[in-house]
Amino acid sequence: MPTQQDLVSIAQALVAPGKGILAADESTGTIEKRFDSIKVENVEENRRAYRDMLFTTKGLGQYISGVILYDETLRQKSSDGTPFGELLKKQGILPGIKVDAGAKSLAFCPGETITEGLDGLSKRCAEYVKLGAKFAKWRAVITIGRDIPSRTCIQENAHALARYAAICQEAGLVPIVEPEVLMDGEHTIDRCEEVTEWTLNSVYDALYLDKVMLEGSVLKPSMVIAGKDSAKQASVEEVAERTIRTLKRTVPAAVAGIVFLSGGQSDELATAHLNAMNRMFQGKLPWPVSFSYGRALQQASLKAWKGSASNVAAGQAALLHRSRMNSLACSGRYSDKEEKQAKAA
Ligand code: 13P
Repeated sequence: MPTQQDLVSIAQALVAPGKGILAADESTGTIEKRFDSIKVENVEENRRAYRDMLFTTKGLGQYISGVILYDETLRQKSSDGTPFGELLKKQGILPGIKVDAGAKSLAFCPGETITEGLDGLSKRCAEYVKLGAKFAKWRAVITIGRDIPSRTCIQENAHALARYAAICQEAGLVPIVEPEVLMDGEHTIDRCEEVTEWTLNSVYDALYLDKVMLEGSVLKPSMVIAGKDSAKQASVEEVAERTIRTLKRTVPAAVAGIVFLSGGQSDELATAHLNAMNRMFQGKLPWPVSFSYGRALQQASLKAWKGSASNVAAGQAALLHRSRMNSLACSGRYSDKEEKQAKAA
């Protein structure tokens, strides 16, 4: 049975210097959207081949500390018969698992969702531990719009995140706590900052009530950013400043680390934002600040791969490149020059 110290060690390994997380836990429905963009059929063998391409990338463990998997993927194998969980361990990467059952509409709250999946969760966690998972993820979704988010939505999602985190820790999995404030919409960066502060305050209040050990947990927040349809977009520095200000106001210093989601930002902008935070606030923050990107790590790789075995090397080169750029951003050393040099090479 893992001890509290085991949880702390896993959480710290996830945010080790220069490393971040690859979110490859797209559900079967979500991966279909990604595959549609490269005209690849969404069947189990293609999903396996795609993840095999990603996970067999040589040297990935230099930049990636953990990979979040979907239930199906944790049970699949690499082409040589090695289960994906074991393959990742050989790369020095911790396997993790998405345990939520997705965001469903929240009763009496039009336009808002509650993440489901608490029923039977402790039993599922026990099975995932047996299958080799070391950490878990649960994503709550907060939408900004006219008259929303409601207090109901924020409270219920914070409560579910806390119940999930406590159940995971009891089972020996480090919980990644992911309250995503969506960037969809026309809202201002001020409104995003206000909603993010409210959400994170509510999340840490709920985690306290449910006795979650913060040192054995990791926060996966969205950045403070204007809505993607807003005419006024903030500079990279302003996003960095407001995001860090909000996190400092709300996230206890005991939390093992912070790993951002990319949420639909372009891959280079997601790297630039992370880089600015670490460049401007290095040595002044109580937690490591890193990445847990899905689209921002995979987009270029997916496009290079296009579902063909002959493009595996190109897909892997694209993934390794983005992973290295984000690793540099963890210490504020990413630059256009690095980006271009690597592309020219
Ligand atoms: P994106 O980086 O594509 O937002 O995905 C991260 C994630 O895990 C969303 O739950």
